Amino acid sequence: MSELLENGRFTGIVKEVSDLNQMPEEYRIAIGKIVASHVVNELTGAQRFDEPAIQYAPTPKDKWLTCRIAMEEYGHHVKFDRLATDMNLDPALLDPTTRHNSIFDQPVEDWNEFVVFKAICDLAEIIQVEDLAECTFLPLRDLAIKTMPEERFHAGFGRDRVKELCLTEEGRVIVQAGVNKIYPNILPFFGNPNSRNNEMYRRWGIKKRTNAEMRAVYTQRVKNLIEGELGLNVPEVA
Ligand SMILES: [Fe+2]
Ligand SMILES: [Fe+2]
Repeated sequence: MSELLENGRFTGIVKEVSDLNQMPEEYRIAIGKIVASHVVNELTGAQRFDEPAIQYAPTPKDKWLTCRIAMEEYGHHVKFDRLATDMNLDPALLDPTTRHNSIFDQPVEDWNEFVVFKAICDLAEIIQVEDLAECTFLPLRDLAIKTMPEERFHAGFGRDRVKELCLTEEGRVIVQAGVNKIYPNILPFFGNPNSRNNEMYRRWGIKKRTNAEMRAVYTQRVKNLIEGELGLNVPEVA
């Protein structure tokens, strides 16, 4: 495998699923873990957050847009699941009851929490997808590029609704409470700063940034929105 690495990094391209057979086992493991995590988390998010939010949506237009968001999140699951099937991934890796992200264990209680969630949680997803959109495995890169505009729409939808809420003092209090509740739960999403998995992903050109770098970019983007644009506070988290 060392002959594939230049200065400890793989900079080649793996064009198709069938080409994975020619790659070292560690590459297949790394791609499998990333694909599996998307299969599981896109489904769990759609089931626990986006689909229930349809009933919270206060107007027909909001219901329509929330149906679209739920449809797109289920769609992300279906597309990643297709790739997982093509790759013959172990079904045990794809079990959402055991393997989903802890973000999804605290459900949103109402419409306002949902829009705060979309505004800041989908920003975290965008940062992950940014790296995958330049990764060395083309089927995954293509999928990331295709899903990115939809993730941007979800975050933008949340941002617009949060801005509307912040036009009143009562709304500002609601948004601040939502940020205080949701933001600390999202930070662990980026993983351990000394993660062996992240090291493996960077070695094989699947991710570009360390977990700490991604978390720092995330915190800055949340601050730009919540503090810069809305004049609210991002809570300090140890
Ligand atoms: Fe998604
Ligand atoms: Fe999304």
